[in-house]
Amino acid sequence: MPVVKVLTDGIGELNLCDIGVYRSRGGYEQWKHAVTAMRPADVVELVSKSGLRGRGGAGFPTGRKWSFLPNNGRPRYMVCNCDEAEPGTFKDRMLLEETPHQVLEGILIGSYAIGSRHAFMYIRGEFKRGYEIFMQAVAGARAAGFIGEKLFGTGYSLEVTVHRGAGAYICGEETALLNSLEGKRGEPRLKPPFPAIKGLYGEPTVVNNVETLATLPHLLKNGAEWFSSVGPPKSPGFKIVSVSGHVKRAGNFEVPLGTTLRELLELAGGPRDGRKIVAIQPGGGSSACLFEEHLDLAYDFETMAANGTMLGSGAVVFFDDTTDFVKAAHALVRFYAHESCGQCTPCREGGYWLEVTLERLLHGGGLDSDIEMLVKVAHQMTGINLCPLGDSIEPFLASVVKRFEPQFRAYVKPSVAVSA
Ligand SMILES: Cc1cc2nc3c(=O)[nH]c(=O)nc-3n(C[C@H](O)[C@H](O)[C@H](O)COP(=O)(O)O)c2cc1C
Repeated sequence: MPVVKVLTDGIGELNLCDIGVYRSRGGYEQWKHAVTAMRPADVVELVSKSGLRGRGGAGFPTGRKWSFLPNNGRPRYMVCNCDEAEPGTFKDRMLLEETPHQVLEGILIGSYAIGSRHAFMYIRGEFKRGYEIFMQAVAGARAAGFIGEKLFGTGYSLEVTVHRGAGAYICGEETALLNSLEGKRGEPRLKPPFPAIKGLYGEPTVVNNVETLATLPHLLKNGAEWFSSVGPPKSPGFKIVSVSGHVKRAGNFEVPLGTTLRELLELAGGPRDGRKIVAIQPGGGSSACLFEEHLDLAYDFETMAANGTMLGSGAVVFFDDTTDFVKAAHALVRFYAHESCGQCTPCREGGYWLEVTLERLLHGGGLDSDIEMLVKVAHQMTGINLCPLGDSIEPFLASVVKRFEPQFRAYVKPSVAVSA
């Protein structure tokens, strides 16, 4: 089985929340090494060479993202995105609660790389335990001299502010997150300008995912080639995959990218007894479904995109042959309708009407024509909003209507079908 232990090493075995335990395993050594022996540009170059792609959803190359910051002499900010609310994703929460110093060391290294002197950690409101654990980690690191003024006797100073959100999925979108951090409503901003040019408080800003940043100490320790030699050339490295749904042992599994979906299923204990997998949602709630014939596909950014879906945040949900896909679609649409910030009309109205239409179908009042309408409305509301939340409904809905259309038609009562 292709399990690896890099970011997950020691989890479940050691108390990695204890700074002493973390340091006894080489913790914060890469932080010290970066500040005392590397130039920020060296860190950026190393990360670019490694091919690391962001683990928050879009898979954008991390080194390239950092290189967009203008040299305008203005303050720069590093923001760690720990809002994690994508349906099926639960890896960042694990890292936050189980290995907070690794996350913090990653934030510190990333901040240094981009020349930031103030880093922000944005934690989802519901992660109360994680927030408390992380606050303790920050206090421990500060006491040990890893945060603050003139670090390790150099001229470099770095402050860290931890902010707890109020529990809105949209605040995971980077510009809504920045608004929320500034104390404004968590609504996405019009882009461009992108955060790299005009981000937090109008200054150049990088927003990176928890897992992306937690990878940095390992990159510094082991080198770019160690990372880039694992997995497919365009999707290198390791990834924590949250596997859930109709499996025997749901959980987070750290694997090389390029591991097959079938191997992920096996890692999660396989399907329930006597059942078979009929669909797989491979990249969080916003991704289109794959099906049983796709089980041997490699799980990486390119292969998922080539098959009409995405790797996203690395959340794989398996559905077996007991699934009612009308109910599954309704659950997901209801989530997106509820989480729409309401700023863009297609997302606000489209999500609501799709939810109402699916409810009508589920309660026996649906029309035959509703099934075409579901797909049409989901398509029409895509690509015309300020952020991708409004685009999140179509992939799953359209893919399961196409594949399991008889399930949707079966909800239409014959009398209603005639009157339609
Ligand atoms: C609606 C929505 C929710 C998002 N939620 C998260 C999230 O919880 N965590 C995250 O890291 N990225 C999330 N993203 C992606 C972020 O906007 C951003 O791309 C990411 O934090 C960048 O980090 P990375 O380059 O390290 O992947 C979300 C995007 C959208 C559109």
